[in-house]
Amino acid sequence: MSTRTTFQPVLERIAEEIERTPGSGRPADYIPALAACDPRRFGMAVAEPDGTVYGVGDWREPFSAQSITKVFTLALDLSREGDALWEHVGREPSGNAFNSLVQLEYENGIPRNPFINAGALVVTDRLHTRTSDAAGELLAFLRAESGNPELTYDEEVAASETAHGDRNAALGHFMASYGNIDNPVPVLLEQYFRQCSVAASCADLALATGFLARHGIRADGTRLLSRSQAKQVNAVMLTCGTYDAAGEFAYRVGLPGKSGVGGGIIAVVPGHCTLCVWSPGLDERGNSVAGVAALDRFTTLTGLSVF
Ligand code: DON
Repeated sequence: MSTRTTFQPVLERIAEEIERTPGSGRPADYIPALAACDPRRFGMAVAEPDGTVYGVGDWREPFSAQSITKVFTLALDLSREGDALWEHVGREPSGNAFNSLVQLEYENGIPRNPFINAGALVVTDRLHTRTSDAAGELLAFLRAESGNPELTYDEEVAASETAHGDRNAALGHFMASYGNIDNPVPVLLEQYFRQCSVAASCADLALATGFLARHGIRADGTRLLSRSQAKQVNAVMLTCGTYDAAGEFAYRVGLPGKSGVGGGIIAVVPGHCTLCVWSPGLDERGNSVAGVAALDRFTTLTGLSVF
């Protein structure tokens, strides 16, 4: 039996189930450019390690990748500086909201993990120091891995975040006061908002995540991460990728995953496949309601999970 006859029916079944269950989530409104998204949109894609991709619904429609990009900047920085990164950012779940400031003071400006906003700012800062263009480095990587040269930033979303970026600015300045940010904070924020604004489809992001299913190997066969580093990134996704809902996500889905407030979630079945699901209605912790439900159904129906 070919894999196509394995994945396509399960995706279609999940899409039908999701359509019958109107979601309770709401699009993110603290970034005004995202508030207008229709919460009924739904797309899902599965990519196999060889680049074969399956999809259903709005799986080719670009959406705002937002915090999903934090996985790729982490991988790009880790591949350059290795374990030295972990002196500047931890790898424990925070138990707090993704944009919380509360732990930073008593933990001396070292964020709990690379996926909360504070940690992602540290990673982007360090990648920017090493490349002089962190957001450009990210974009080039996503284009190469997805095979989509048209993938790009959404300038409207980047401008909207810049105009409402006081909390991220506060995080950046606070960490700079502890010496944990190298670049001028306005330079870092510009890079970070461009990074978050990248518009990509479920197909693009499922394919771009493939290196984590291939144990660190990029689409062209070259190595980005060591096998051990790929395992580490997957582990941090599992424990920290959905913020203060990471325990619930592991319980329901049982896969490394990373959400974004655009309504996307990527997930990895190491050695088997990568997934991306998109639906803009979010729960109060910033994770897509239909997205988590769809991944829950996928692992339940296929038995593909890390547990
Ligand atoms: O910095 C922010 O708040 C957004 N650009 C990204 C937050 C995000 O996607 C959190 N994920 N659920």
